[in-house]
Amino acid sequence: MYADTKIDSPSLEFTGKRSSDYRSALSDYSDAWLPDIACMKRFLNPAPGERILEVGAGNGYFSTAIADYLGPNGLLVASDPSTEQLSDLESQSEHGNIRVVPASADTLDINFSGFDAIWSRGAIHHVTDKTSAFTRFAQVVRPGGRLVINDIFAGTPLARYFDAFIARSCSTGHEVAYLSHEFAESLCQLTGWGAPVFHEMVTPWEFRKREDIGRFLQLLFSAKPEYTAEDCLAAADRHLSISQTTSGWALMWPMTVMVAVRPAHG
Ligand SMILES: C[S@@+](CC[C@H](N)C(=O)[O-])C[C@H]1O[C@@H](n2cnc3c(N)ncnc32)[C@H](O)[C@@H]1O
Repeated sequence: MYADTKIDSPSLEFTGKRSSDYRSALSDYSDAWLPDIACMKRFLNPAPGERILEVGAGNGYFSTAIADYLGPNGLLVASDPSTEQLSDLESQSEHGNIRVVPASADTLDINFSGFDAIWSRGAIHHVTDKTSAFTRFAQVVRPGGRLVINDIFAGTPLARYFDAFIARSCSTGHEVAYLSHEFAESLCQLTGWGAPVFHEMVTPWEFRKREDIGRFLQLLFSAKPEYTAEDCLAAADRHLSISQTTSGWALMWPMTVMVAVRPAHG
């Protein structure tokens, strides 16, 4: 069903230490993102039997959850330029309904036009040619299909945290281009999507101890050796918000969810 895909991304950021640290963060603190799974469920609302394309799937934290909702008659195609991130994802699906496609969003070449929806979390800010990516998304989604992007948007506290701290502390750096609401609206209009709707969501990443937050961030963003877990915690405290809960501590993580629909006619 899918054409061969070539990865022509000039630099693959999520390989080696960056990729293995990300994997370790999510296996050491596997419950931290359960509220993000609930957020995905709310906005993507994957239904049994649907066919969904995931863009920038990484090591599949969301892929397996989506594939569970789709069930044995559904299909999740998980794409990412990093084959290292995608490795072993197909074998993790309980229903055997995940296929991986190693590809960058802006050169994605899938010979299929019947996806019910596209889901992408934390990846679009890494995409260089967003016009090409959105055009390709519209080509593979059926009329009435939906595009759900959960990401860091320009001008938000999260964008400031990444620019002020992650860009200097992450082992690969973090030179990226955040979407603004205005540019996303133009992109949708130019590439065949309906007007997007934006939702500012704050999900609590929950931990037993306050210091776990620093260790999780140190791994998730693959901090250089000179940045300790305490440094990572202090930066999150400066730019974001940390609260005590009944069972421990929560880092309040503010992301934007953008939802657009491909018009049924036109
Ligand atoms: C922060 S991770 C997010 C992974 C996963 N979606 C999650 O939420 O855990 C960003 C992902 O975007 C991928 N990525 C980087 N450049 C990309 C591009 N041009 N097109 C699609 N994905 C890209 C990376 O390889 C990485 O897996």
